[in-house]
Amino acid sequence: MCWVRKSETQKFLKMRIRGELTFPGDKSISHRALMLAALSDGRCTVRNLSTGADVESTRQCLLRCGIESESKSGGVVIRGGTLGIPESDLQCGNSGTTARLLTGLLAGEGIPSTLTGDSSLSKRPMKRIIDPLNSMGSSIQSKDGHLPMSLESRSLTGIDYSLPVASAQVKSAVLLAGLNAKGKTTVREQVRTRDHTEIMLRNLGADITVSGSRVNLSPLTSPLQSFDLTVPADPSTAAFFAAAAALVPGSEITLRKTLKNPTRTGFFDALERMGAGVKWLEEYDEGGERTGDLRVWCRPLQPVSLSRPDIPGIIDEIPVLAILATQAEGTTEVRGAGELRLKESDRIAAICSNLLRMGADVTELDDGFVIEGPTPLEGAEITTYGDHRVAMTFTIAGLLADEGTRLDDDRCVAVSCPEFSNLLGKVIA
Ligand code: S3P
Repeated sequence: MCWVRKSETQKFLKMRIRGELTFPGDKSISHRALMLAALSDGRCTVRNLSTGADVESTRQCLLRCGIESESKSGGVVIRGGTLGIPESDLQCGNSGTTARLLTGLLAGEGIPSTLTGDSSLSKRPMKRIIDPLNSMGSSIQSKDGHLPMSLESRSLTGIDYSLPVASAQVKSAVLLAGLNAKGKTTVREQVRTRDHTEIMLRNLGADITVSGSRVNLSPLTSPLQSFDLTVPADPSTAAFFAAAAALVPGSEITLRKTLKNPTRTGFFDALERMGAGVKWLEEYDEGGERTGDLRVWCRPLQPVSLSRPDIPGIIDEIPVLAILATQAEGTTEVRGAGELRLKESDRIAAICSNLLRMGADVTELDDGFVIEGPTPLEGAEITTYGDHRVAMTFTIAGLLADEGTRLDDDRCVAVSCPEFSNLLGKVIA
């Protein structure tokens, strides 16, 4: 239970968001780093691995398959090698990325196993990976397209697959399966999604090319090269702090070494279009990914419109964008984002119902929402639905509310960023 009491709220309103932050590593890259380390020919070190429970789920699942890892002061050391048959179920917790990518990896390696998840993950669609993997020759049984899912050992054949949904998880599951299939695998995307799997595979010696909307992969002829990687700071976590700085007058924040992959910067691009101060400073390269120091400061906000092609690049940041929209002068529209209903919670419903309680002018659509701004936000009882991004979004909204805001459950932030409150505390000046 998290209370922002009236007196604290008033204090917050007098406060500014100021300073410089470094964040734990990107969640998507962290999952992939662990899984690809498992396929490597030796000892890999991953620095700045995401500290969230989701990535820990991946680490634990791999451990059950015989892939050992050890946290050292300089990072997590993983010994790659041969994946073994787990003796018990693989518990994926709340993590869709663990469940979907690992199923692809295990299907390719022919490892019989059963994957399970928590109550939220058990409601999320798995048919989207079961269909292409079974077409490749896998034999995956599920409970009506949901977890638990069981795989048998099969040899796979490469596939030419057009993604019916814009999903990096589905793309990655097929590519990971294709690494050990017979013949080439092609995945075609209608809308470009995050490409960390492609970047990492190419860097580690796999034969993978991207041409237009097509990703072409040949099966591995030797194990992936072992590697040493520093994971760039998670832009999806950084987005909450950027939003706070953009919303609270007099604020300015610098978010160090933030991932600047163009498939992930949709939120910062939208923030700039809304009129907030946004400037990428120093740029760096880390394991084939671009990173940069990002400065964000408060300026009057204008509305923004997002449609289907924009959505994959901002999918996880749309909840916090909605808070910005309540303070922008005019109508913000988000459409073509029906996938948000299939995340850790139904995020469209969670955004709209909680914002209505805070007094915002919001209309729920099947595939998005319309928000009229600006409206003052009032303190309210917030239902997080156990969804980390909903909890963090309404913590930021609570900074603006003129009365106490209470989250029914904020423990879920640990799914992606256990340090969230500490980090926020550091920049409230
Ligand atoms: C992810 C892809 C996205 C994103 C999720 C992480 C990934 O999901 O929402 O948080 O690591 O590939 P979808 O592929 O379902 O869009």
